[in-house]
Amino acid sequence: MSKVSIIGAGNVGANAAVKIAEGNLAEEIVLLDILEGVARGKALDLAESSPIMGYQTKILGTRDYKEIKNSQLVIVTAGYPRKPGMVRKDLLDKNSGIINSIAREIKENAPEAVVINVTNPLDEMTYLIYARGEFSPNQVLGMAGVLDSSRLRYFISEVLKVKPQSVEAMVLGGHGETMVPLMRLARAGNKSVSRELSKEQIGEIIKRTRNAGAEIVSLLGKGSAFYAPSAAVYEMAKAIIEDSKKVLPCSACLSGQYGYEDFFLGVPVRLGKDGAEKIIEVALNPAEREILNRSAEAARRGAEELKEQYSL
Ligand code: APR
Repeated sequence: MSKVSIIGAGNVGANAAVKIAEGNLAEEIVLLDILEGVARGKALDLAESSPIMGYQTKILGTRDYKEIKNSQLVIVTAGYPRKPGMVRKDLLDKNSGIINSIAREIKENAPEAVVINVTNPLDEMTYLIYARGEFSPNQVLGMAGVLDSSRLRYFISEVLKVKPQSVEAMVLGGHGETMVPLMRLARAGNKSVSRELSKEQIGEIIKRTRNAGAEIVSLLGKGSAFYAPSAAVYEMAKAIIEDSKKVLPCSACLSGQYGYEDFFLGVPVRLGKDGAEKIIEVALNPAEREILNRSAEAARRGAEELKEQYSL
């Protein structure tokens, strides 16, 4: 059992806290937000559900970073969600200042923690935490691939009319237009998905997966997705806390794998108590490699811009 701190008690952060508490993953959860009342109110609300839901977790709401001391895991969900019509660059300008100061606070108060970043734009903000906090490369991960893969799995299951859990599929690369859904390797039970579906159906599913975040943003009108994102955070947190060595697609710091270096990109990662314990290199076909290169180029450029802007 362990201590998990969540920075940003908004929609994703609070829902991650619910899932971690209900999953009995942590002995203690700290919900930290710049809006102290929001953090304390949601922590109290959550604690008041424990007699019914049966968890023992101690839950604290605060805006004081001293409270995150001795966390095994820190989850960053602070910042602005994407608004309809907003592009990646708008979000980068809005969120990088916030993430820059949060990275310092984590380093000062919980230097040993594994950090999962959720704040978008994902690969860039994850890089900023790593570089500003001077963490070791294995210590910092970004959550996008598990979410994109879950969306892809759901869309496949809808078309094939099978249980969503029976579909296995992985999305690599960036969290947006250049994501790389590995349809070639997707399976539904013991069947190959690419053999079960027509080219048109596959094209539609890929398009919907790439646009899934924006689809929710435009339906909600205000804010962005949080149930599936918090579920994806839960899955990563579980693998790290339980030291399960599960391989999940995560944004991770590359040091030569796939031919890339010194930026973050979505790749399969073996997760354990030390965070990203190993990056797994899967063989890609030329088409997949080309999209991954485009993703990598965007992530590399993003990291370069941040290096310059924040003198990293
Ligand atoms: N320190 C701590 N908390 C902060 C700070 C800060 N400097 N700045 C903002 N916050 C808090 C807000 O007060 C709010 O409670 O972050 C929370 C963000 O919550 P929401 O607005 O509900 O956003 P959410 O949907 O949770 O998304 C958060 O995750 O999925 C990504 O794109 C999404 O980048 C966004 C992030």
